[in-house]
Amino acid sequence: MNLDTVIAKIPDFPKPGILFYDITTVFKTPAALRFCLEQICSHFPAEEIDGVVGVESRGFIMSSLYAHETQTPLLLARKAGKLPGKTVSKKYALEYGTATMEMHVEDIVAGKRYLIVDDLIATGGTLAAVAHMIEQQGGEVAGIFSIIGLPFLQYEEKIGQYRIITLQDYHGE
Ligand code: PRP
Ligand code: MG
Repeated sequence: MNLDTVIAKIPDFPKPGILFYDITTVFKTPAALRFCLEQICSHFPAEEIDGVVGVESRGFIMSSLYAHETQTPLLLARKAGKLPGKTVSKKYALEYGTATMEMHVEDIVAGKRYLIVDDLIATGGTLAAVAHMIEQQGGEVAGIFSIIGLPFLQYEEKIGQYRIITLQDYHGE
């Protein structure tokens, strides 16, 4: 399946000069969504993963499908202030300012293997923050899965030490 034909490209969003890769067109195309699920399951067999971490918010969708299909526990990495239990947190850089990701401390068990799932990797800052929380608690990052990758934004500098699977890469305009 050629995902590029499914992914909508929206010029000048969220601001002039930015070409936005819109994942919603994948989600609303059943054959494309099924293809993504088949890919993640084949790259990360359930026997090798103890927990799948979905990254708020667009990462929740593929991570949920994987968790259901493979019967793997689904754990949430959420933006600050949303999780009610005891949390671990990690600040990360945005284009302007910073944001914070949080996970429930009890969701990460030392020695267990975690697959992190998001929809798109740009600078890698979000995923680096999630990986940091997992490792800080003694967990192992078994891999990172994202439907879209933007390697021209140098995400390898932040998360290049992990096994990263992306299905559709873009190399700038
Ligand atoms: C987007 C995207 C990734 C992240 C990638 O999420 O869904 O999670 O940015 O950027 P990075 O690699 O530079 O960190 P966003 O924070 O816009 O929010 P959303 O998923 O809740 O829509
Ligand atoms: Mg996101």
